[in-house]
Amino acid sequence: MSVSEPLHVPRTIALVGLMGVGKTSIGRRLAQRLGLAFVDADSEIEAAAGASIEEIFERHGEAAFRDGERRVIARLLEQPPHVLATGGGAVMDPSTRALLRLRAISIWLRADLELMLSRVARRNNRPLLKNGDRRAVLERLMAERYPVYAEADLTVDSIDGPPEATVERVMAALAAHLATGKETVP
Ligand code: S3P
Repeated sequence: MSVSEPLHVPRTIALVGLMGVGKTSIGRRLAQRLGLAFVDADSEIEAAAGASIEEIFERHGEAAFRDGERRVIARLLEQPPHVLATGGGAVMDPSTRALLRLRAISIWLRADLELMLSRVARRNNRPLLKNGDRRAVLERLMAERYPVYAEADLTVDSIDGPPEATVERVMAALAAHLATGKETVP
């Protein structure tokens, strides 16, 4: 059953989760359903730096990228409510985490390792997956990050198949969350 619109969303919806779970493709469609703007944090970082994520990692290293990521997300969280796809490592930063808690409804998009592997295989532009065995890297990141992703307000399984099916699950989780009345306009 599909969720009847409109849903009134008082805060930014921040999608968190590992590379390849579909944060961008789900986020874009979710924004459309909610009548909100969609913003991709990685694209914003690239625009601010005038360089691709790959170039930022190559020229300045991961620490510089994380620094830019923290600043860009802090700026985005000052904007009116929108749907924000964060990069997979963004929530590992404690200050980003604290800001998300304050200003956003966070949704952990979780997918099977096999699904993530098949999705990340489509492109080779993710610095963390360029060297070494992708499966091993993703398994390590799952171990490190899942306890942190699990702090998100909501968890939704991103499933194989048409993205609309996962969007529907997100809409249902969001509708249930909003119906609790815990989300008041800040
Ligand atoms: C990263 C994920 C990437 C991008 C960067 C680092 C990570 O974003 O921010 O390559 O640490 O998991 P996506 O999750 O959108 O691929």
